[in-house]
Amino acid sequence: MHAVSSMNAQTSSSSSAAGGARPLAGRRAFVTGGAKGIGAAIVRRLAAAGADVVIADLDLGGAQALAGELTAAAPSARVTAIALDVSDLAAARHAVLDTGPHDILVNNAGVDQHAWFTQTTEADWRRLLGINLEGVLATTHAALPAMQARGQGRIVNIASEAGRLGSSGAAVYAAAKGGVIAFTRSIARENGRKGITANVVAPGPIDTPLLRQAVEQGGERLLGAMTGATLAGRLGTPDEVAAAVAFLVSDEAGYVTGEVLGVSGGMGCGA
Ligand SMILES: NC(=O)c1ccc[n+]([C@@H]2O[C@H](COP(=O)([O-])OP(=O)(O)OC[C@H]3O[C@@H](n4cnc5c(N)ncnc54)[C@H](O)[C@@H]3O)[C@@H](O)[C@H]2O)c1
Repeated sequence: MHAVSSMNAQTSSSSSAAGGARPLAGRRAFVTGGAKGIGAAIVRRLAAAGADVVIADLDLGGAQALAGELTAAAPSARVTAIALDVSDLAAARHAVLDTGPHDILVNNAGVDQHAWFTQTTEADWRRLLGINLEGVLATTHAALPAMQARGQGRIVNIASEAGRLGSSGAAVYAAAKGGVIAFTRSIARENGRKGITANVVAPGPIDTPLLRQAVEQGGERLLGAMTGATLAGRLGTPDEVAAAVAFLVSDEAGYVTGEVLGVSGGMGCGA
């Protein structure tokens, strides 16, 4: 099971969101892998927009540190940190149910492994599919009934351009992310008339600890290959991904569902 650390404050503040606007005030969000990297940027965006955010991460200390920082900066922020391994499917379901109901679900937790497919083992496959795909199924399965009952919900799954284009040295990861894309579109189809949208954000190379780890495994040439594959010729930032998520969970995006939004410097152009 998961440990819970709550860092809430109830007083209102006008300093937390840009211009004082809090378009997500009163919405409750659950973000997996929100302790660092892209997930942390998403948590910052959602909290700044006024949402109550549950950060669910393997790294409880990192999640608590972020929750504490956001609460200190904006006393109105209600940010909660819980320890969760999303590949523990029962724990993932319980984490969502125990902290819900949620208006917003962002499945961001993910891991990569740089290896040619023939060098991977069945244990690698299970680990990569468990975290990157099955964890998404578990949290979504737990969150959807309450969204359906209330006739509103926003689901954003963080996949990868690898899920559309494939990726040398990351075949199993790409398979999992391709699965996330097909799954999300299916959820969009099943829930289109129930007030629920489901979309994918597909990052390209983003400057995070995950990418730095991949570069350590794959060498500097991998970094050059990744930036070279973008039209922009550079790495993206976590906040550039978070901005896309913030749009997709906003009221303005109510007519956007079943889409895959690449945030990849044009890497997926034409896919
Ligand atoms: N960084 C990139 O270039 C890139 C590109 C495409 C897609 N993505 C995707 O974006 C998402 C975030 O990636 P990132 O680069 O920020 O990664 P990161 O490694 O920097 O951060 C990932 C976060 O997820 C948490 N996490 C890892 N395994 C977990 C688990 N089993 N249960 C719960 N939490 C777990 C980690 O503790 C960490 O806080 C991932 O789904 C990744 O596949 C990243």
